[in-house]
Amino acid sequence: MSALVVQELSRNFGGVQALSDVSFSVEAGERRLIIGPNGAGKTTLFNLLSGIFSASNGSISMFGRDITRLSVHERARMGLARTFQITNLFPQLTVFENLLLALQAADKSAFDLQRPMKANRHLYERAEVLLGEWGLVPVSGKFAREISYGEQRQVDLLLAMAVQPKVLLLDEPMAGLSAAESVRVVGMIRSLPREITILLIEHDMDIAFDLADRITVLHQGCLIAEGNGEEIRGNPQVSEIYLGVE
Ligand SMILES: Nc1ncnc2c1ncn2[C@@H]1O[C@H](COP(=O)(O)OP(=O)(O)OP(=O)(O)O)[C@@H](O)[C@H]1O
Ligand SMILES: [Mg+2]
Repeated sequence: MSALVVQELSRNFGGVQALSDVSFSVEAGERRLIIGPNGAGKTTLFNLLSGIFSASNGSISMFGRDITRLSVHERARMGLARTFQITNLFPQLTVFENLLLALQAADKSAFDLQRPMKANRHLYERAEVLLGEWGLVPVSGKFAREISYGEQRQVDLLLAMAVQPKVLLLDEPMAGLSAAESVRVVGMIRSLPREITILLIEHDMDIAFDLADRITVLHQGCLIAEGNGEEIRGNPQVSEIYLGVE
């Protein structure tokens, strides 16, 4: 079954055609890498998939259901989660509180940080388990604004994974990280359950090709190639784009 089917998806911003007639599908459990030069439309694609922007044209379905007109919230409730190209944490809250809020958003019961801890015990416990599993206990009590950029990106990823999504959209999770931090984040992504369908935008192809089952290449808003790592590496049009030769 396809986790996502995108048909003739387009979006323009004024005169800019950010995404143009893009069609592709992603199988359930697949790890799909999205590459393309700056301005290719990768983040726009994620914004359309997650419902932050509406499509100018075309359709999106998730596990067979048309989600083109659903809100961000409705899509999230169906199991779609994402990270952003820029960190999306509440800087004035601790890492633990940020995680609690993410867990609460996916939880049916009402939640309020001011309520006694007992009332939300299951969420607190889950947050503790997740921080332990991912080695983030040392930053748990720190404000999001005071941890390093690399730590923030790891917490971003943790927040997106914490809601047990069916489809996870990761927008450059390794951007700006040190080599050691990248290795850690790649490890986090790699160790996610195979049932989670992952779409990953990444510039560093050496890292990302390894993670992906298939690769989709965007250029100037158009889908120009799709295939496995070998096919994409051997694709002359893709090489030209990356060498800056038109
Ligand atoms: N909200 C917006 N308003 C106006 N133009 C936008 C908006 N979002 C994206 N664009 C334009 O759409 C095009 C595609 O941008 P997008 O951010 O999707 O590219 P990208 O592939 O993610 O690039 P990068 O690798 O730099 O992150 C660009 O020309 C960009 O300026
Ligand atoms: Mg982008």
